[in-house]
Amino acid sequence: MTRIKNICCIGAGYVGGPTMAVIAQKCPEINVTVVDINEQRIAAWNDENVENIPIYEPGLSEVVKEARDRNLFFSTDVDSAIDKADMIFISVNTPTKTYGIGKGMAADLKYIELCARQIARVSKTDKIVVEKSTLPVRTAEALKNILDNTGNGVNYQILSNPEFLAEGTAVDDLMVPDRVLIGGDLDTKEGKEAVNALVDIYAHWIPRERLLTTNVWSSELSKLTANAFLAQRVSSINAMSELCEKTGADVNEVSKAVGMDSRIGPKFLKSSVGFGGSCFQKDILNLVYISKSFGLNEVADYWEQVILMNDHQKRRFAAKIVQTLFNTVSGKKIALLGWAFKKDTNDTRESAAIYVADYLLNEQAEIVIYDPKVKTEQIYADLDYLNSRSSEENRSRVKVVNTPYEATKDSHAVAVLTEWDEFKDLDWQKIYDEMLKPAFLFDGRRLLERETKEAIGFEFYAIGS
Ligand code: UDX
Ligand code: UDX
Repeated sequence: MTRIKNICCIGAGYVGGPTMAVIAQKCPEINVTVVDINEQRIAAWNDENVENIPIYEPGLSEVVKEARDRNLFFSTDVDSAIDKADMIFISVNTPTKTYGIGKGMAADLKYIELCARQIARVSKTDKIVVEKSTLPVRTAEALKNILDNTGNGVNYQILSNPEFLAEGTAVDDLMVPDRVLIGGDLDTKEGKEAVNALVDIYAHWIPRERLLTTNVWSSELSKLTANAFLAQRVSSINAMSELCEKTGADVNEVSKAVGMDSRIGPKFLKSSVGFGGSCFQKDILNLVYISKSFGLNEVADYWEQVILMNDHQKRRFAAKIVQTLFNTVSGKKIALLGWAFKKDTNDTRESAAIYVADYLLNEQAEIVIYDPKVKTEQIYADLDYLNSRSSEENRSRVKVVNTPYEATKDSHAVAVLTEWDEFKDLDWQKIYDEMLKPAFLFDGRRLLERETKEAIGFEFYAIGS
């Protein structure tokens, strides 16, 4: 039986970092080295003050504190970590392609391929290679092809072990997962051994009945399917939110009533300004692209609608602000509370806030942003990435401030875009008093109580009511 002593993980991001920290904490006899080509990121993971690690996740710094320098290491020396490892996790990013065939839809597998070639070049002993990044179905085949044809004659087993952690709850999701999915070549003895080696690692803290083993293709496709279903629920309830606004129904009441049907269940039915994050959009586009490439146009269209609905929801929210402010926001100061794609994370990838801000900037608004965890440079980088206007213009028309009150003072309108808990407890009377009148408050997360805000004097709008 294969016993793993050394693990290497390529990619110290939102997935690789927390996952490896938890494996290291739970398996003290295994050495875990997380490598990344980004020197700054690795330096931050190694920062003496554990609160400075580059990823904010509740509970993560405690886990890192316990395991770091005991059996958890962060390094930029990718070659030597690969060389030493029996098992290599690939957790690099797979963004949507921005060029060439499949532009705007297919996953860009450039980094995955680079990793495979590097593993093939360096390895002198047999390795188990684990796909942790979310990949289109059948990527393992390409990985195996590269490894087998460019390597030094060593043997590789490829496993798929998709990550189901959600940001903001990553540590809990890793500690007590609903299930762990491990795909491998169950038809061969070597394949089964590799699967079992990974099962043994997770069995350190997860009951065996939650460790699901499947063939590689099912595992890859299950991850895309899970995210597509979750995103579909959000788009479904968001579609209903618009209908609620027209009919006098309240989307929260509808959501509660529907969610109490045990066949449907209460989760992922919270209406919002639109889903964000690094996975939903990318994975659905991926699914659409794969379906199209097999000629399954109806399947592709079906899933694409989930994304179109989400784009519509973001635009609709921004348009509501403009329309309510007497059809012009030109030169008006608008405060955005929250920039992260959801609470308890500093991740901003695909955050609805980016698109709302962009829409309002196109309408010539002045934007002031407060987010408790997102860094100023990140906000400007997100806006620059859209290429809607020059970086100088973004810097002159968007201000990022350190307190919510600085953002809201003298503003015409406030929009809540992330459901940070602290926004519930702000001194809303003070905010109202310091705003221009009439003072408008737009709640993109259904976070605030309509009655109390209206009692203060706000002109209040919440999604779906
Ligand atoms: C990524 C994918 O986006 C997601 O689909 C997958 O499920 C897990 O991996 P995440 O960890 O959130 O998610 O990405 P990110 O925070 O960008 O981390 C990836 C890291 O890989 C970056 O730090 C990057 O520097 C590193 N990297 C990338 C390498 O070390 N080598 C490379 O060749 C490319
Ligand atoms: C998601 C999946 O949940 C996780 O299993 C997968 O591995 C990666 O993708 P994540 O992107 O971290 O995780 O966040 P998630 O909590 O799923 O939220 C995604 C987006 O949907 C957020 O913008 C969130 O605010 C939004 N959302 C979620 C809603 O608008 N309404 C809901 O009811 C739930």
